[in-house]
Amino acid sequence: MDYTRRRFLHTSLSALAGAAATGLWPMPGLAATEQRVELVAQESRINLGRGPDFTAYAFNGQTPGPVIRVREGQRLNISLKNRLLRPTTIHWHGLPVPNSMDGVPDVTQAAVPPGESFSYRFRARPAGTYFYHSHFGYQLDQGLYGALIVEPTRPVGGWDREEVLLLADWVVADGGGTATVPRRSPMGGMMGRGMMGRGMMGRGMMGRGMRRGTLPPDGPLTEPYYQGYAVNGHLYPSGPPIRVKKGDKVRLRLINASSSTTYDLCLAGHRLTVLALDGQDVTPKTFDVVRLAMGERVDVEFVADNPGAWLLQAHDTGLGESGLAVAVVYQGRQNSPPKGPRFHPGLSLATYWDLAAARPKAHPAGNPQRWYRQVLSGGMHSPYWSINGRLYPDSERLSAAPGEKVRLSYFNRSMIAHPMHLHGHFFRVVNYALPPERWLVKDTAIVEPMRRLDVEFVADNPGNWFHHCHNLYHMEAGMANLVTYTRA
Ligand code: C2O
Ligand code: CU
Repeated sequence: MDYTRRRFLHTSLSALAGAAATGLWPMPGLAATEQRVELVAQESRINLGRGPDFTAYAFNGQTPGPVIRVREGQRLNISLKNRLLRPTTIHWHGLPVPNSMDGVPDVTQAAVPPGESFSYRFRARPAGTYFYHSHFGYQLDQGLYGALIVEPTRPVGGWDREEVLLLADWVVADGGGTATVPRRSPMGGMMGRGMMGRGMMGRGMMGRGMRRGTLPPDGPLTEPYYQGYAVNGHLYPSGPPIRVKKGDKVRLRLINASSSTTYDLCLAGHRLTVLALDGQDVTPKTFDVVRLAMGERVDVEFVADNPGAWLLQAHDTGLGESGLAVAVVYQGRQNSPPKGPRFHPGLSLATYWDLAAARPKAHPAGNPQRWYRQVLSGGMHSPYWSINGRLYPDSERLSAAPGEKVRLSYFNRSMIAHPMHLHGHFFRVVNYALPPERWLVKDTAIVEPMRRLDVEFVADNPGNWFHHCHNLYHMEAGMANLVTYTRA
């Protein structure tokens, strides 16, 4: 057996082993054929490792859904079976799939009715860390999401361990994340450690869809008061720790599947080297803290050179400690209580301005041929969030000619950050300190309160593309529009 053949077999066997672990069985026809996956959307009883059982929406009975892992260029054939009582769809967040496969109800397809199925077929490329989620109503917050990992054709790296960590905000009540609960916690404080205590977890069993305060009866929901923040469906300390040996090089694929929470993450006793943002390689650089808004992914690596038991923990932006954590435990240190990071102003935070794209060639930018101003506003006692003062579906359409470079200038005129996401494309984040070929390649970018941010994309994937804030509650309250163009 020649070397390539042997390596090929080895790869496919480990792919099968991985599939067994997640409950997915790709067809044994190997890389050249389609990988088939079945995702059944259904109501399921969920437990996050502590707190009560509750009913949420799940894929294949679990939330997050199974990890889908493919090789770059491989065809995926994912059959979605809808066993919910509501319509649903799946969106492949970050992957530039053909428009008809993009999963936006009423824009790229009719939503899949209860009892029916839909097959999503596309080629998975480029390599990177992505996720999939329902794009119907509040279903993202109710639990319908999972990781989608596209491996490079030629393996790179030399990591001793790789972990996919999906971060999610939860309301631990029937109805999942969208159920509303009283804003005041019995512990008094709004947030902080007390909020994560057991006393809180059993409360808040109010009906789904209840609206708070003085909102119009048919108006949008506002974000619920989240009671817990889970890593791969576990509230700390219930989840399995990341086990390492001294000297290991560990890669973490962090995915923020939360509906309305941004995380600043720090690993006690270690620093994190950023490898990729939104799945696209950057020139590696090391920081103390990495920030992930809703819809963003960050790949980091660390070297296990400080034996002990530690926490990778989030400092919830603007809200104090969130309680999101996962333990990193060295061999032989299973019995030590994990130490959390201490957040202090001296820590270095990975911002967009500290990083540069590693692959200069793709996605040309600079000298845009079309330029759109996008004013983001809302809040101030209104449940509505708008772009240029208009609410989706009555918002404007952004058009382009095929092949054009299009610039979007976001002006955030509100007091809250908006992670803006464009479907079907990568964009470059304009950074005048760098030449355009080093501008970050992303699909979701945070526009900070009262700040401006510019992005640029090439109109190279014709169709009607949804463009919106990835805060689910802002999106559902109108902060969305369409980018539309046809083939030349
Ligand atoms: Cu994560 Cu419109 O999507
Ligand atoms: Cu927003």
